[in-house]
Amino acid sequence: MTRIEELVKEQAEKHGRKRTSLMPILQAVVSSEHYLSEEAMLAVAKELDLSTADVYGTASFYTFLDTVPRGKFIIRVCKTITCHMKGKDEVIRTIEDILKIKLGDTTTDGKFSLLQANCLGWCHKGPVMLINDEVYPEVSPEKVSEIINQYLKKG
Ligand code: FES
Repeated sequence: MTRIEELVKEQAEKHGRKRTSLMPILQAVVSSEHYLSEEAMLAVAKELDLSTADVYGTASFYTFLDTVPRGKFIIRVCKTITCHMKGKDEVIRTIEDILKIKLGDTTTDGKFSLLQANCLGWCHKGPVMLINDEVYPEVSPEKVSEIINQYLKKG
């Protein structure tokens, strides 16, 4: 049994093997592997006795379930209207400059990925940024460079 198959099995034992267990299992795989590989999706389908199309469909519907490799720290900046009007573009530009990557990319050392997300439900405190599951509300270019620099120090 491969490492991924073992991980999926472990999660299926924890969450159960019903259709409703699919999301928590996929999320657990993403949080451990940083993305959903084809191997993981096949293992989940087998473990829950679902079709692979079903698993692929669920994974691609939820943009949070990445199906390509991502960095250790996934930065997501909300792109929806309120955050857009409150200056998310400058925030993104600042992050791109610090990490020397473009939106959608991952740093070559595999530490950071920079993505956009749909409304994160914090519109009253936009622009909002998420690093993994940590929420950073009301970010400005200054604030964001401080935060990213802290993460850079953390390694
Ligand atoms: Fe950005 Fe809602 S519009 S959090």
